[in-house]
Amino acid sequence: MNKNSLDGKIKRIAKLGRYTKPEKVEGAIKLDSNENFALDREFIAGVTAEAARQVDVREYPLDQLEQLYAQLAKYAGVNEKCVAAGSGSDQVIELLLSTFGSKRATVFTPTFSYFINRCELHGIRVDQVPLKRDFDLDNKAFLKSAKKSDLVYICSPNNPTGNQLGRHTVIDLINSLEDRLVLIDEAYVDFADYSLSKDVTKMDNVIVLRTLSKAFGLAGARVGYMVANEKFIRVFRSTIQSPYPISTLSLAIASGILERADHVKNTIETIRKERARVAGRLAKIDGLQVFKSDANFLFIEAGKKYQPISKALVSNGIIVKMLGNVAGHKGCIRVTIGTKEMNDKFLQCVEGTM
Ligand SMILES: Cc1ncc(COP(=O)(O)O)c(C=O)c1O
Repeated sequence: MNKNSLDGKIKRIAKLGRYTKPEKVEGAIKLDSNENFALDREFIAGVTAEAARQVDVREYPLDQLEQLYAQLAKYAGVNEKCVAAGSGSDQVIELLLSTFGSKRATVFTPTFSYFINRCELHGIRVDQVPLKRDFDLDNKAFLKSAKKSDLVYICSPNNPTGNQLGRHTVIDLINSLEDRLVLIDEAYVDFADYSLSKDVTKMDNVIVLRTLSKAFGLAGARVGYMVANEKFIRVFRSTIQSPYPISTLSLAIASGILERADHVKNTIETIRKERARVAGRLAKIDGLQVFKSDANFLFIEAGKKYQPISKALVSNGIIVKMLGNVAGHKGCIRVTIGTKEMNDKFLQCVEGTM
């Protein structure tokens, strides 16, 4: 096989790791993709209906993107010249990789597998530095690898483990990597205690990636954004990003929900409380280990209880992310924090297997 022929390239790509979309199960309690169901359906439907009435989809979106930048900047507490957006943070990651990805990237693992898959698609070698058993960072090993890379990815809070590394740890890392591009993926930061959004506007080489898919309940609208210094953002908006990356309808929905950011913040508070409640209940169950989470999901090591829990969840129509063995931990489960009712059903189901 000629590796450079089209056929050879397709065969190489077909062997790469890829994201497998979860199966749609009608009527299921969906706790597998870290969406926000604490924002109720009626509220989101109202915002969407209002957006649909406002927009004229015969027109390309001209000024709506600028309006969104201003709203996102206000929410993130940065200057609007420091914000750019895309069709989900997935698309922003993709653009950054295709533009700046070069030979080698460093990530810690386990982490968001999409990033690793996309690097591999672009022929970027990914050095994976294992997190410690408690999911803290092995600073020395990570830095050693990062210094040999052109690109460094830090998921904060991390998916699937849920924890956020200490602010000083990340800042110290960034300071030691001045000439490498550092991507801080803050998809779940709205549920955490700190964001580096403001800090990175003063840095030359660091980008924060954020999204409206999680806390803001807009996974289906596909709106992600990035925060960086003004110079970087200017080039991204004008040259790297395509002219119309987000549909007029999604832009209007995003603006509508950002106008109601206070309501979203209340649901974030509810989710944080629920996270503590669910973790507390699970921690009482013999044989389960629940890890500290700064996100809207929990990482659980179920060990021998993995199969019975899996069966019980399936028969009760509850979908979670069954991860299997992860980094030396046996029978791992990632479960999204949903509404109180959803969480109770999940808890009853797990408790019923004990
Ligand atoms: C860590 C992380 N980054 C980015 C994304 C992608 O988010 P978006 O819906 O904005 O593309 C996800 C989605 O699961 C995620 O977990």
